[in-house]
Amino acid sequence: MMSDKKILYSGMQPTGQLTLGNYLGALKNWLLLQEEYNCLFSVVDLHSLTVRQKPADLRKNARNLLMQYIAAGIDPEENIVYYQSHVSGHAELAWILNCYTHLGELNRMTQFKEKSAKHESNINAGLFTYPVLMAADILLFNTDLVPVGHDQKQHLELARDIASRFNNANGDVFTVPDPYIAKVAARVMSLQEPTKKMSKSDENPNAYILLLDEPNVIRNKIKRAVTDSDAEIRFDRGNKAGISNLIEIYSCFTGMTMDEVQSHFEGKGYGDFKKEVGDVVAEGLRPLQERYKELQKNKDYIDQIIKKNGETANYLAQKTLRKVKKKVGLPELVR
Ligand code: TYM
Repeated sequence: MMSDKKILYSGMQPTGQLTLGNYLGALKNWLLLQEEYNCLFSVVDLHSLTVRQKPADLRKNARNLLMQYIAAGIDPEENIVYYQSHVSGHAELAWILNCYTHLGELNRMTQFKEKSAKHESNINAGLFTYPVLMAADILLFNTDLVPVGHDQKQHLELARDIASRFNNANGDVFTVPDPYIAKVAARVMSLQEPTKKMSKSDENPNAYILLLDEPNVIRNKIKRAVTDSDAEIRFDRGNKAGISNLIEIYSCFTGMTMDEVQSHFEGKGYGDFKKEVGDVVAEGLRPLQERYKELQKNKDYIDQIIKKNGETANYLAQKTLRKVKKKVGLPELVR
């Protein structure tokens, strides 16, 4: 983090296994950008507590998530890959930023509305202030760029507003971060209900592909994907959501443009199309799956990454926090 590259920050919740949506919408872009930026990639375990988790599962999912970052190709020696809960500065800054966030802003968050509808019996305050903790994650490290999927756009806009409001009141402290949302696959859709986002919390496992699904499971899920009855392989999100989703997925794994994909499949049927999509996804994820298996055997290496990166993140976080506390008038700790 000592070079003068710009800073990139992103994270994912350890609430289960990663899906193709997480991969194409976010992780794949992290891979593209990791050399150009100084990057921090967090496992946002504090965010996961907004929905009840089994403690043993959360611990396991957090570690598996961190290993999937590395298995996907994130270099943990060059980037800071760490657990959010290992850096207490996140929660501290979130408190201060809570005092710079309006209730009306949080009330407008569509993710809060969706999650409260889904978890009616546990609409806790953490769920409501979730976006403030996310703003704290980002602002703590003077982040320039935040690569996320489309569903996080609103949270990013709020983080920008909070940063500007704080700066207007206290002088320039925070960098106002820019979102990075790719044009293709920023919103990977459910394979079963292609007008809905692919989500790891979907009750139907055929709706999503997990990065660690076996190749034959991947092929079968794509074979069963819901499409339409007009038998034309054409990109048209409004009228052909299922086919368009598969075209986007195919384009991400092959590097072909949408037009190239369309001409490649001209005159072919849905059966052939789905088979090829299944093949490129299964093959495309194979290296990640192999590296993941290797990492599982290497406990000490992962432990050491977690420790070292947590320390670096803490050091950087404290620098920002000291500045913020001073600006708002909190007394300095005399040693
Ligand atoms: P989470 O864990 O829900 O999602 C992780 C990332 O995956 C993207 N994503 C998708 N992209 C395309 N299509 C989909 N179907 C799809 N589903 C998920 C999300 O947009 C996200 O980029 N609040 C964040 C975690 C977070 C964070 C941060 C991100 C906490 N602090 C600071 C960036 C910076 C979230 O819900 O992640």
